[in-house]
Amino acid sequence: MKLLIINGPNLNLLGLREPGIYGFKSYASLCHMIREHAKQIDVEVEIYQSNHEGDLVDRIQAAYGRIDGIVLNPAAYTHTSVALLDALKAVEIPTVEVHISDLSKREDFRQISYVRAACVKTISGYGLQGYLEAMDVLKELLTCK
Ligand code: DQA
Repeated sequence: MKLLIINGPNLNLLGLREPGIYGFKSYASLCHMIREHAKQIDVEVEIYQSNHEGDLVDRIQAAYGRIDGIVLNPAAYTHTSVALLDALKAVEIPTVEVHISDLSKREDFRQISYVRAACVKTISGYGLQGYLEAMDVLKELLTCK
């Protein structure tokens, strides 16, 4: 079973970026946590980050036929991107939407998620742990398939 973890814009600046909201851990430590968890639950994992919407679309398209499940934090593109929604709908790969912060407690413009309509679940407000929970959700879902 192979999972793809995709992070959108500015998540490469974790640790530096608004630590009061996103915490003090770096993007490198997030990747380390994900790799360790993948070993524990016995899944293969690929990790990808881009600040560019089209690159994120390309990576979702390239997952077709190769990847069993996607963990996606589209970051700011959550609230703007029909292109990411369409890419997820096209490939039909089970996807869990993750947000480090609790979107329900933030600004009005963060209350809309375009990708949500193509996701099996949304995990928001559990910090970096949310990525690991999303991996567990996909492992369970794909094992029961
Ligand atoms: C985020 C929330 C988004 O609103 C924001 O633009 C991000 C990160 C989160 O993980 O909490 O960049 O997706």
